[in-house]
Amino acid sequence: MNPKLGLGFLLLLLLCYLIDSKCSKGCDLALASYYVWQGANLSFIAEVMQSSILKSTDFDTILSYNPQVTNKDSLPSFIRISIPFPCECINGEFLGHFFTYNVRSQDTYETVADTYYANLTTTPSLINFNSYPEVNIPDNGVLNVSVNCSCGDSSVSKDYGLFLSYPLRPDDTLASIANQTNLTQSLLQSYNVGFDFNQGSGVVYIPAKDADGSYRPLKSSTGIAGGVVAGICIAVAVALLMSVFIYVRFYRKKKAKGAILLSASQELSPRIGQVPGSNSNKPVDATGSQGLTGITVDKSVEFSYEELAKATDDFSLANKIGQGGFGSVYYAELRGEKAAIKKMDMQASKEFFAELKVLTHVHHLNLVRLIGYCVEGSLFLVYEYIENGNLSQHLRGSEKDPLPWSTRVQIALDSARGLEYIHEHTVPVYIHRDIKSANILIDKNFRGKVADFGLTKLTEVGSTSLPTRLVGTFGYMPPEYAQYGDVSPKVDVYALGVVLYELISAKEAIVKTNGSSAESRGLVALFEDVLIQPDPREDLRKVVDPRLGEDYPLDSVRKMAQLGKACTQENPQLRPSMRSIVVALMTLSSSTEDWDVGSFYENQALVNLMSGR
Ligand SMILES: Nc1ncnc2c1ncn2[C@@H]1O[C@H](COP(=O)(O)OP(=O)(O)OP(=O)(O)O)[C@@H](O)[C@H]1O
Ligand SMILES: *[C@@H]1O[C@H](CO)[C@@H](O)[C@H](O)[C@H]1NC(C)=O
Ligand SMILES: *[C@@H]1O[C@H](CO)[C@@H](O)[C@H](O)[C@H]1NC(C)=O
Ligand SMILES: *[C@@H]1O[C@H](CO)[C@@H](O)[C@H](O)[C@H]1NC(C)=O
Ligand SMILES: *[C@@H]1O[C@H](CO)[C@@H](O)[C@H](O)[C@H]1NC(C)=O
Ligand SMILES: *[C@@H]1O[C@H](CO)[C@@H](O)[C@H](O)[C@H]1NC(C)=O
Ligand SMILES: *[C@@H]1O[C@H](CO)[C@@H](O)[C@H](O)[C@H]1NC(C)=O
Ligand SMILES: [Mg+2]
Repeated sequence: MNPKLGLGFLLLLLLCYLIDSKCSKGCDLALASYYVWQGANLSFIAEVMQSSILKSTDFDTILSYNPQVTNKDSLPSFIRISIPFPCECINGEFLGHFFTYNVRSQDTYETVADTYYANLTTTPSLINFNSYPEVNIPDNGVLNVSVNCSCGDSSVSKDYGLFLSYPLRPDDTLASIANQTNLTQSLLQSYNVGFDFNQGSGVVYIPAKDADGSYRPLKSSTGIAGGVVAGICIAVAVALLMSVFIYVRFYRKKKAKGAILLSASQELSPRIGQVPGSNSNKPVDATGSQGLTGITVDKSVEFSYEELAKATDDFSLANKIGQGGFGSVYYAELRGEKAAIKKMDMQASKEFFAELKVLTHVHHLNLVRLIGYCVEGSLFLVYEYIENGNLSQHLRGSEKDPLPWSTRVQIALDSARGLEYIHEHTVPVYIHRDIKSANILIDKNFRGKVADFGLTKLTEVGSTSLPTRLVGTFGYMPPEYAQYGDVSPKVDVYALGVVLYELISAKEAIVKTNGSSAESRGLVALFEDVLIQPDPREDLRKVVDPRLGEDYPLDSVRKMAQLGKACTQENPQLRPSMRSIVVALMTLSSSTEDWDVGSFYENQALVNLMSGR
């Protein structure tokens, strides 16, 4: 190694060591959740919890944080009240505050911890910070009572800067606290990493509202836990070491051509290219037809909540364009461009960032592009706006004109190409797991684009409580996935097969049979019955979308149906790969290209489509 570099490295490590203390600085306010035991009253609580923030007679300050308490003279028992106190970095070791307790006769460390301080402190820590022997606490002695606190964690969220130190009681669970606070379980867990909420004891930290009833955002400089600083230090050191390593390995060897094209180092560049040698997917210039140059050029893909709120008219109902399993989608005008913002029903955790960054680097003409994100409060994903809605609307919405057959073939091909790209050409490769007509969007040229890829992975990374969650939509899930949760690219192949059937029939993936709505039947079974016949043509005509009229080549429809059947076979290994599907659909597309131009020539969409090639 270069001696200068080596020296720099050592210095860095030294620096890291010096700033690696457990906490560097506290914050002016934290809250303690005090469980009112029978016999406690406000004067007692204010007395034991007094600090620079709370004088022992200042009940109004307590009441300002506890709107549920209306009468200061009769405090109900068995409720929790929040008590403000300052949160300090104690000896660079932990965030907490020392209260002083005036000993009364018969007090033990245990009663002080369990009752008078409502488990905000523990017996071991009282023993630790006080020199009096356990069996002989002098009657008018003074105890040092430590109560731990938190000032937030900028790597979890910058929206929360005030925390409640909350001693768990046996009837508390992660779910019950999430319910009471309207915060997600994953957020709560992120602030209490590795803590089992169901153990019924111990102090956890919960984002809390200020006296004004709103969350207090994290002040930029406070609350950086020492661990984070240490983490950054180590990360920088490792990155340094690795870049030296990469420099030695690759640059010295000069032109290790193409092989590292998709390596991690590529993440730093704004877009990922195409693997050499594959030609079924055209590499895409992200600044191309979408006209999103203003956004894409910008390297920072993290938006502020403020900017997104402004772009969506404060997430107004008028701007809402859809609602899905993971959240709501809003139309936005962001930096002069159209965008779709998905507000997810979950908070962003540390693990999201890496994943999000990878996702913003995946570009393909047939994938709805993730432009950026925002992680303030909720998780927001900013996508390119796709003008023409989703495929489901085109097939079944009365306000849309029926799609001509050649357009349907094209959309099938587009979807398969998008999926082939994520199955085979991205690093890491993705399995979509939620392919359905609502997740295939139609652009202004009536080309298909696959939406929401990578989302299932995001939600999986985010949910700490359930190890493997089955995401997907019934009617599109293959048996091995629905039953055993087996995940492979063939999950997407199956779902695409169902979409092919939808393109033919315009029926929903799960067809309600007449009369009893309880009885329902999958599109897969419906087509199976048709295709099992030696000559399925007659029955096939009966299931073709009536809105196509007679304007479709039955032969092409039959081939598409057969492809659908191959995709939806029970044995995943027998299903074709996405690559073969692309090839099959390309063949189908070139043979049907000119079919219905005559009858649909007035259809502007098709004219665009034809002249667009
Ligand atoms: N980038 C976009 N441009 C235009 N419209 C969009 C965009 N993304 C989503 N939409 C619209 O918003 C609707 C809701 O999307 P969302 O992904 O939340 O739900 P979904 O696709 O119905 O179900 P799922 O949550 O399983 O993906 C979509 O069906 C689509 O019509
Ligand atoms: C408040 O509670 C303490 C401790 O239980 C008790 O000693 C005191 O008498 C009570 N004060 C009033 C005003 O009720
Ligand atoms: C403190 O914890 C102990 C043991 O879990 C429990 O018995 C006691 O009721 C708790 N005290 C309060 C005030 O919640
Ligand atoms: C406070 O935190 C320190 C350091 O994490 C821990 O050792 C101690 O037990 C905690 N004290 C209480 C009262 O929870
Ligand atoms: C409380 O802490 C102070 C400062 O650390 C110390 O001087 C004092 O002895 C402690 N009190 C007891 C009872 O140990
Ligand atoms: C949340 O609490 C309310 C009552 O406070 C209850 O009706 C509801 O079922 C709870 N929801 C969950 C998911 O536990
Ligand atoms: C939680 O949200 C529901 C509806 O979104 C609201 O009615 C309720 O008051 C909220 N509870 C709290 C504690 O904020
Ligand atoms: Mg979707």
